[in-house]
Amino acid sequence: MKLVKTVAELQAIVKETKKAGKSIGLVPTMGALHEGHASLIKAAHAENDFTIVSDFVNPTQFGPTEDLDAYPRTLEHDCELAEKMGADVLFVPSPKEMYPSRDMTWVEVTGDITKVLCGRTRPIHFRGVATVVSKLFNLTQPDKAYFGQKDAQQAQVLKRMVKDLFFPLEIRVMPIIRETDGLAKSSRNVYLNATERKAAVILSKALTKAKAAFAAGERDSAKLTAMVAEMIRTEPLSDIDYVEIYQLPELAPAEATITTDHLLAVAVKFGTTRLIDNVVLEV
Ligand code: PAJ
Repeated sequence: MKLVKTVAELQAIVKETKKAGKSIGLVPTMGALHEGHASLIKAAHAENDFTIVSDFVNPTQFGPTEDLDAYPRTLEHDCELAEKMGADVLFVPSPKEMYPSRDMTWVEVTGDITKVLCGRTRPIHFRGVATVVSKLFNLTQPDKAYFGQKDAQQAQVLKRMVKDLFFPLEIRVMPIIRETDGLAKSSRNVYLNATERKAAVILSKALTKAKAAFAAGERDSAKLTAMVAEMIRTEPLSDIDYVEIYQLPELAPAEATITTDHLLAVAVKFGTTRLIDNVVLEV
């Protein structure tokens, strides 16, 4: 595996790879790699001739009071894991490489899809994600790009972007990888102390309960969200940001009685750490 730090070197490698007729899989990450990321790299390696993993803590998707400076950085570990999972290139650019101009060009997906859920408390977040992922798509020209269902809204936003801007690639969304007790793997889980870590299991428990109720025939969207919120509130350390349900794929308001696929998503703080999780309610 090659560690690549500059745009120019990456472009040269991509040019050669394309010339050789190889398909390219891209896995964008912010590093601090865990098994969730590993599953994406493994899938990219299995489905493409050449796998590029990017490792870049993207400043433009963090709000002014968010954890940009504290975000975990574990480059040595990331190199080992990416290589083990079959990556051919680990692209680790500096902010200056990715954002060379003082004034810059934004890519912004508009509508409900970026306003609801995380868009409400993180108003500039998806603009930062769409912009950096567009740059990565242009740099790596992937046939397929891999994202996790863990960030369900991000995956839907990027699918819309690809459709609207005619990016010639397929977005592959991979299942949520969890700890054995159900907590969704996340780079931010390291912020949790031992009691918060234990408390955080309530998220997957509550979502699993709602999914089971849905499977048993409950179609009332308000009842399903109330069930999840109520269960999360039994955990005194939890502080709910949202427990909400929207229609897939555009995140339009939920139907009162569900007849199409919906996303039931939560964001909850434990101490200062905000965690997200979700389930898809498939009809
Ligand atoms: P990051 O949080 O590092 O996540 C990179 C990718 O890994 C995302 O597509 C995310 O959904 C996926 N992922 C994270 N945890 C996962 C889990 N438990 N199971 C499966 N997949 C998981 O998301 C970002 O970075 C950034 O916003 C990025 C897209 C790289 C743009 O900067």
